[in-house]
Amino acid sequence: MKVVVARTIPAAGLAKLEQRFDVETGGLPLDRQWLLEHAPGASAIVADPTVVVDEALLERAGQSLRVVSNFAVGVDNIDTEAVRARGLRATNTPDVLTNATAELAVGLMLATGRRIVETDRVLRDGEWSGWEPEQFLGRELARATVGLVGFGRIGQRVAELLRGFAPRVVFATRRPIEEPAARHGAERLELGTLLACSDYVSLHVALTAETKHMIDAAALAQMKDGAVLVNTCRGAVVDTAALVEALASGRLAGAGLDVYEDEPNVPPELVALPGTVLVPHIGSATRTTRDAMARLCADNVIAVLEGHEPPTPVV
Ligand code: GLV
Repeated sequence: MKVVVARTIPAAGLAKLEQRFDVETGGLPLDRQWLLEHAPGASAIVADPTVVVDEALLERAGQSLRVVSNFAVGVDNIDTEAVRARGLRATNTPDVLTNATAELAVGLMLATGRRIVETDRVLRDGEWSGWEPEQFLGRELARATVGLVGFGRIGQRVAELLRGFAPRVVFATRRPIEEPAARHGAERLELGTLLACSDYVSLHVALTAETKHMIDAAALAQMKDGAVLVNTCRGAVVDTAALVEALASGRLAGAGLDVYEDEPNVPPELVALPGTVLVPHIGSATRTTRDAMARLCADNVIAVLEGHEPPTPVV
């Protein structure tokens, strides 16, 4: 059977696939034309957040295709309805990246709140003239209110990690959380109330039609003066133009961003603002996590092609 890997995945997963199947990898950067040319006859396609899996690609792969395995937890790059309509499976890589992503979200809170990147730049530019009592003052997480928008695996892990810092943690979800232990001392609020009381708002929702631009100009206007926005989920959950305006006007103190609406393009206005900490979609980027994602991504392919239920199905 032929497995087409749209770009590549770490050897920890690629080797598992190569032991069992004829694997063709597109390599980096993504070449949509290569993918369309190699898709016919594939039993599985391995994608990632940069690979659009649409009706055209599924059609191109044809009757042989059984599974689309995403090397990511988010599946907004996949037309899951088209996958379902064709009776195929789609899988993702949840759980294994929860901690890495949650740690990055906390890191972005610390980096923005304590101005770590901004002051590093001052020092490197040779502009630091010595310790001063009122210089570079930031904000501690202790006694701050952290609002988590979305409270699934990653949001809950952020709440757990934050406990030692002792902020007040609140969260907003569409559905109630059944398991009190999963709350890690966090309190559930309506989204508007959360936005109005949080010093840090951190986003942990999947990108869907419902969550696209969920943080728009109106939502940003509800945020507290001087608050910070952290986004480690998907760029399109935030209306970037509205965010730029809220930051440029000084209404928000800063933003810690890992994801962008039009990756890899980052608006120059965001880059120019001193209060933003901008990292290049590195939420799951640790050796341990990327290897675990690669193994799980391969295990999903293997399970489906060997006639078993995949470990982490989406469709
Ligand atoms: C990465 O962005 C992921 O969804 O895993």
